Amino acid sequence: MNATTTAPDAVPALEDARRFAAGPHRLFIGGAWADPREGETFATQDPATGENLADIASASAADADLAVKAARKAMESAEWADMKPNARALLLYRLADALERNADELAALETLDNGMPVRDARYFHIPYAIDQLRYFAGWATKLNGESIALSGPGTWHAYTLKEPVGVVAQIVPWNAPIAMACAKIAPALAAGCAVILKPAEETPLTALKLAHLIEEVGFPAGAFNLLTGFGETAGAALTEHPGVDKVTFTGSTEVGRLIIKAAAGNFKRVTLELGGKTPVIVLPDADVPQAIEGAARSIFGNAGQVCNAGSRLFVHKRHFDEVVEGVSRIADAMKVGAGFDPETQMGPVISDTQRNRILGYVSGGVDAGATIRAGARDISGPGSFVAPTVLTDTQAEMAVRREEIFGPVLCAMSFGDDDLEALAAQANASDYGLGAVLWTNNLSAAHRLARKLKAGTVRVNGGGLDPALPFGGFKQSGWGRENGREGIEAYTETKSVAMAI
Ligand code: NAI
Ligand code: MG
Repeated sequence: MNATTTAPDAVPALEDARRFAAGPHRLFIGGAWADPREGETFATQDPATGENLADIASASAADADLAVKAARKAMESAEWADMKPNARALLLYRLADALERNADELAALETLDNGMPVRDARYFHIPYAIDQLRYFAGWATKLNGESIALSGPGTWHAYTLKEPVGVVAQIVPWNAPIAMACAKIAPALAAGCAVILKPAEETPLTALKLAHLIEEVGFPAGAFNLLTGFGETAGAALTEHPGVDKVTFTGSTEVGRLIIKAAAGNFKRVTLELGGKTPVIVLPDADVPQAIEGAARSIFGNAGQVCNAGSRLFVHKRHFDEVVEGVSRIADAMKVGAGFDPETQMGPVISDTQRNRILGYVSGGVDAGATIRAGARDISGPGSFVAPTVLTDTQAEMAVRREEIFGPVLCAMSFGDDDLEALAAQANASDYGLGAVLWTNNLSAAHRLARKLKAGTVRVNGGGLDPALPFGGFKQSGWGRENGREGIEAYTETKSVAMAI
C-alpha cells in the first residue's frame, strides 16, 4: 500500500513556513543571533518525504558555555532579576498572543518538521502551547511563600520565600516540539528563571520560530536562549555544565539516566519526564463503543509517539472480541499519509530509524507467537510510515509488551475475573508508571483502581492534557511533576527567613 500523497490544497501559511524553514538559522544567545562557534550545521528532514528542509546550527560545548554565561548574566541583571511578577506575566501573555497570531505558520512548520497532521498541529499542539503560556503567566503573581509559626523561646517573625532556582537547561524531544517547548519555558520564565532551550535535532524549526517571537515580544537579553544541536554534544554539555542550576528533560529513559549522572557534579536539580507503557483498562460495565474509540485514539494519536500512549489494552473477557475487532477496524480504516493531506488521519513517524525500531518490536512479537489483528502492513516510502497495528496473544515477558515502542502498536489482553487486585497487578507489571486509563461506569471500581494503579495520572472515561493538572511518572517514568502548582514550584528554591522580633 502507498501512503496518500495528494497535494495539499491551500494549507494556510505553508508558503510562509517554507520561507522561514529555508533559513538561515542561528543560535539565540544573550538576546542576539549567533553563528555556532565551530561553524557546524546539520539538516532537518520532512519525515513525510525524507527531503532536507533546512540547515540548522549545531551548537558545541563552547556555544553551551556562552549560553550559560548569558543566562547567568540575565539572572544577575536588574532587568530580569528585579522584574516585577506582573511584568513577567505580561511578557508571557504577549508571547501567547504572538503564538496565536502566528498559529498557522507555526502549525505548518510543525507538520513540515515532525510530520503530524496539520489539523492536529493547528488545533491541538499550538493551542496547548498557548494555554501553557497563559496558565503559567497567571502563576507569576501567585508564587508565594508562607508565614510560619515558630515554637522556640522568644518572639519570631518567620516566613518562606520562593526564589527562582536560577539557570535552567530544558531539553525537549521531537514528538510534540512546540507544545513541549512551551510547557517547559512557561513555568520557568514565570518563576523568573533564565532558560536555555535545547530542542530535538529532529525538530528544531518551531523552537526557532518561538525564539524569534520571544525576541519580538521583548524579554530581557539572556532570559531565554536557544541552542539547536545534538543531544550528545549540546545537550550533554548543558547537563554537565557547572553553571546550570537545574535540568528539565523529556525523552528516553536511557538519556534520563545519563542526565542524572551528569547532574551529580554540582547537584543540579532535575525533573525528568520519561517513557511509559500506559495500560488502558476496559471493565465489564464500560460503554463499549466509547472505550473502543478511546483506546484507538490513545495509541494511534500522534502515530503512537506519545510518552503516555495507551499501548497495553486490558479488556474484560465479556467484551474482548468486540473491543479488539472495533479497534482493529479503526486501525485498518485509518488514512496514513503526509500531514498536509487533508484526508490524513495519521502522519509518518519521525524517522526511518524510529520506523525500523517500531517494526522490529512488531516482528519480534510475531516471532515469539503474537497474532496480528490489524496493521503491520508495509507502507512504501518515501517517508517513514507505519500502519496502525493491533496484536493479541502477546506474553508479559515479550519486549513488545514490556518496552516503550513509541509507535502505533497496541497489545490487547483479556482478563477474566472481577478481582481488581489481580487486574491492578497486571497493569502495574511494568517498569514504567506514567499513566493509566479506565473505561467504566462503576464508580466504586474506578476509585478503587485509581488508588491501586502505580501511575502519575489516572484518567477515567477520557480526558486529555491540561496545564493545571500535575503530570509525571511513578517508577522509571521520571522524577517530579510538571504542570499545576507543583510544576512551577519545581523552578523555585524555598528560602526560610526567621527573625527574632
Ligand atoms: P532521546 O531521549 O535521545 O532524545 C530526547 C532529547 O534528548 C533530544 O533533544 C536529544 O537531543 C536529547 N539528548 C539525547 N542524548 C542526550 C544526552 N546524552 N544528553 C543530553 N540530552 C540528550 O530520544 P530519541 O533517541 O529521540 O528516541 C528514542 C526513544 O526514546 C523513543 O523511541 C521513545 O521510546 C523515547 N522517547 C520518549 C519521549 C517521551 O516523551 N517520553 C520523547 C522522545 C523519545
Ligand atoms: Mg537518542
